[in-house]
Amino acid sequence: MENWADDGGRTYLRALPVLSGTAPGFDLNDAPNEPISLFVAWLHGAVDAGVPEPHAMTMSTVDAHGRPRSRVLIVKAVDDAGWHFAVSSASQKGRDLAANPLAALTFYWPALVRQVRVVGTVGSDGAAASAADFRARPLGSRAMALTLRQSQPMHDVTELDTELAKAHHRLSDEPNYVPDEWLSYAVRPDEVEFWEGSADRRHRRLSYSRADAGWERTQLWP
Ligand SMILES: Cc1cc2nc3c(=O)[nH]c(=O)nc-3n(C[C@H](O)[C@H](O)[C@H](O)COP(=O)(O)O)c2cc1C
Repeated sequence: MENWADDGGRTYLRALPVLSGTAPGFDLNDAPNEPISLFVAWLHGAVDAGVPEPHAMTMSTVDAHGRPRSRVLIVKAVDDAGWHFAVSSASQKGRDLAANPLAALTFYWPALVRQVRVVGTVGSDGAAASAADFRARPLGSRAMALTLRQSQPMHDVTELDTELAKAHHRLSDEPNYVPDEWLSYAVRPDEVEFWEGSADRRHRRLSYSRADAGWERTQLWP
């Protein structure tokens, strides 16, 4: 750390290991003709390998001015409709999605040297699914969501205490209450890329692109 100022940490960072996990092997000839089942199989592989929080994904969105932002979110479900997640429409990401219903998702499971990237259009799951998602959240998460202030500047922590107390009060009066702002969405994938790294840099990559009927599979250069 002492030489950090000399080179902005370049030497220190270069010495850190990368691609240090154990790749299970990715036989591209064996890959299914659609990406969902392969994603589910890789996710199970990550769970079995003990990857912490393997259902955490980096979601990137773009605001009305073309400014990109990324953040980590938990994926709620993955099925033929796509990758499902829920947000408050009052949050930055909620506003980004209202302006620009497109998102990119990135999963990285270091123990398996695997990454999956998804790009697609974002569509609502509807009011019933949004309400069901909200009601399934723990009480503390519901109360925090009800404050509708995520990512706003917080000038005084007592504001948070006050708003949270109001939210708990509301939920104790109306345990089934769901705010209109809570929205469940799905990323309907147009592109899904599976990447398995290799120490010799001959990484294995398979891209699925949505075609008229089904999916086109393309092997990519490392
Ligand atoms: C592991 C992990 C899981 C997270 N899960 C969520 C989540 O499910 N919902 C959420 O709103 N924020 C979640 N966050 C926080 C977001 O990354 C982000 O800070 C927050 O949503 C504000 O983003 P925004 O200002 O772009 O709307 C999570 C962060 C981490 C590190």
